[in-house]
Amino acid sequence: MNGADLRHKLAAQEPLQLGSFPTPIQPLIRLSQWLGGPDIWIKRDDLDGVGGGGNKIRKLNFLLAEALQRGADIVLTTGATQSNHARQTAAMAARLGLACRLVLQADGPPRQTSGNYLLDNLLGAEIRWTKGRDPAEVMAAEAADLVEKGRTPYIIPYGGSNARGILGFTAAFREFIAQSAADGIPFDAIVIASSSGGTQAGLTLGAKVLKWPGRIIGVSVAEQEQPLVSRMIELAASGAELLDLDLHFHPWDFTVNDAFLGGGYGVVGQLEREAIRTLARTEGLFVDPVYTGRALGGLMEMIRSGDLRDARRVLFWHTGGTPAIYAYHRELGRL
Ligand SMILES: Cc1ncc(COP(=O)(O)O)c(C=O)c1O
Repeated sequence: MNGADLRHKLAAQEPLQLGSFPTPIQPLIRLSQWLGGPDIWIKRDDLDGVGGGGNKIRKLNFLLAEALQRGADIVLTTGATQSNHARQTAAMAARLGLACRLVLQADGPPRQTSGNYLLDNLLGAEIRWTKGRDPAEVMAAEAADLVEKGRTPYIIPYGGSNARGILGFTAAFREFIAQSAADGIPFDAIVIASSSGGTQAGLTLGAKVLKWPGRIIGVSVAEQEQPLVSRMIELAASGAELLDLDLHFHPWDFTVNDAFLGGGYGVVGQLEREAIRTLARTEGLFVDPVYTGRALGGLMEMIRSGDLRDARRVLFWHTGGTPAIYAYHRELGRL
């Protein structure tokens, strides 16, 4: 199957077209020189144009198309207090004139209204707190309550990661291949932050369909390799099924590096601080403290340790998240 066939199959899902795509691919000349390794380029999904940008816009174009087809008037989703996914869902809902209820995984509001949580409020999202309960159960109970009140809710799972959501990144892979073909110089590897796994699963599905020979390296931000890979196998297989493709996924289809978990999810350490500061000071660009800062820190370490010595050209996929910088000002101030 070629790129045009894949595009056709994805278009049959009738995704929405919100946002500015294709996102630019730019060289990081000073960072590459500073690291002394492969040529590093960056794909700017942080610039995709809705509600501060980020990777979830692509997934939400597929998910919210289904919400509209089903006549939804309110969308629900879940995430951490500083969830980028929650903020982008609230923004996309606002663009479509839908209400949005966010089930945030904490006991109550943070001391400071900052970062993504501030933006959730500005976007008019209704906020609920899990207070230790299972987020999926809270969303289901909220949805049942809404139905009783005559509303039509649409639930988006954690990270927007299900069969439909990940297709946003299968489309993104096709977009990347078209850009890289026009440029003529192939990339050997893509490095990306991986959490719920939908982004990497969608890209890997695209790479398998188009038989791309490069490596997609997911830097895990939250969990060990094994459970993340198992989930991505299921996600990629379910996406393939939705596209009516006879594809099978195996653990060796996914490269995950879980060496950079540090103090755990959302705990900023020296790795993230150095990555944020280095990109800012070499390129005038920002990565975030939880996802892209950890992924870029991982990329820098992989170059230093020789893990990427065979690669001549590497794409760092910027998946957004920069509003969270403001909520982490204390940790990031300590340079
Ligand atoms: C900025 C950013 N990068 C990467 C990811 C990881 O994407 P996924 O959950 O699809 O693995 C997220 C998820 O929330 C994110 O907010």
